Amino acid sequence: MTRICRFSFVVLPNIPANAKWAQNGVTVAGGNEKGSSTNQLDNPLGIFVDEDLTIVIADPSNNRIIQWKKDDTTGQIVAGGNGQGNQLDQLNDPTDVLVDKETDSFIICDPRNQRVVRWSRHSSTTQGEILIDNIVCWGLAMDEQRYLYVSDVVNHEVRRYKLGDTNGILVAGGNGLGADLNQFNEPKYLFVDRQQNVYVSDWNNQRVMKWSKDAKDGIVIAGGQGQGTDLAQFSFPQGLFVDTLGTLYVADQWNDRVMRWPQGTSQGTVILGGSGFGPEANKTSDPTGLSFDRQGNLYVVDHYNHRVQRFSLE
Ligand SMILES: *[C@@H]1O[C@H](CO)[C@@H](O)[C@H](O)[C@H]1NC(C)=O
Repeated sequence: MTRICRFSFVVLPNIPANAKWAQNGVTVAGGNEKGSSTNQLDNPLGIFVDEDLTIVIADPSNNRIIQWKKDDTTGQIVAGGNGQGNQLDQLNDPTDVLVDKETDSFIICDPRNQRVVRWSRHSSTTQGEILIDNIVCWGLAMDEQRYLYVSDVVNHEVRRYKLGDTNGILVAGGNGLGADLNQFNEPKYLFVDRQQNVYVSDWNNQRVMKWSKDAKDGIVIAGGQGQGTDLAQFSFPQGLFVDTLGTLYVADQWNDRVMRWPQGTSQGTVILGGSGFGPEANKTSDPTGLSFDRQGNLYVVDHYNHRVQRFSLE
């Protein structure tokens, strides 16, 4: 029985400690070669899985956000898609997206335009509005109180914003590029738990950091042993998720695998992939974004195959 914690921003599944997922994924978005039609993706990155199982995908090379409703065979462009540019109806290489339920809008990281933008989900929407300017963002997360967290890959920090406030407060990093516990080397994706602890994939440091609320240093909760293929290592960690038991899930991009790290362990286990890249259903090739639905099914952005795969919880 899966108990549901209903947050305003994401529904957390309770995943049993001994959980296993089907090794063959089912394509739920894209998978029709790389391209710009609405049934295609082009180097997809971050995803958000909504309560009704609509999947929202950052589709950077198409300069758009596209959503696929459950069982759809084609997607629907919901932001951008008007060429590369910095007009309000355009995006330039978006990397991440989430849904703000309160305003029924998408919040989008648009790094090449150095901004975070909001697009209403209303069908008449033709352009976005700028929420935060002058930030080369990468990952986004929202907590229960609707604070927005944004990673900054130039300043190597994570800031928390009250919606409508453009300055934000520093919550992780901010001490320049480096590998100390108070630093990052390109912080990418984010996850925030109910206690407002912030989890960060520290891409170039090959580690995942946890910053407790108000901490001055982070702790390494996975990796940090250099780039490599060992179970204690990553090769460029990307999307991440933390379940209600505190178990960490990480898309280990260049190792073509998804790792699971129970809390307090010094190495992870491979739950998907890990046998190289390729188009087969049991491969995750260059995985980037990662999320779960309320049933505990795992969604992985199979970046290299321009598709999103769903792996069912068994
Ligand atoms: C992955 O799937 C392919 C094709 O179905 C199969 O030949 C191969 O043995 C599978 N690999 C693993 C590691 O299960």
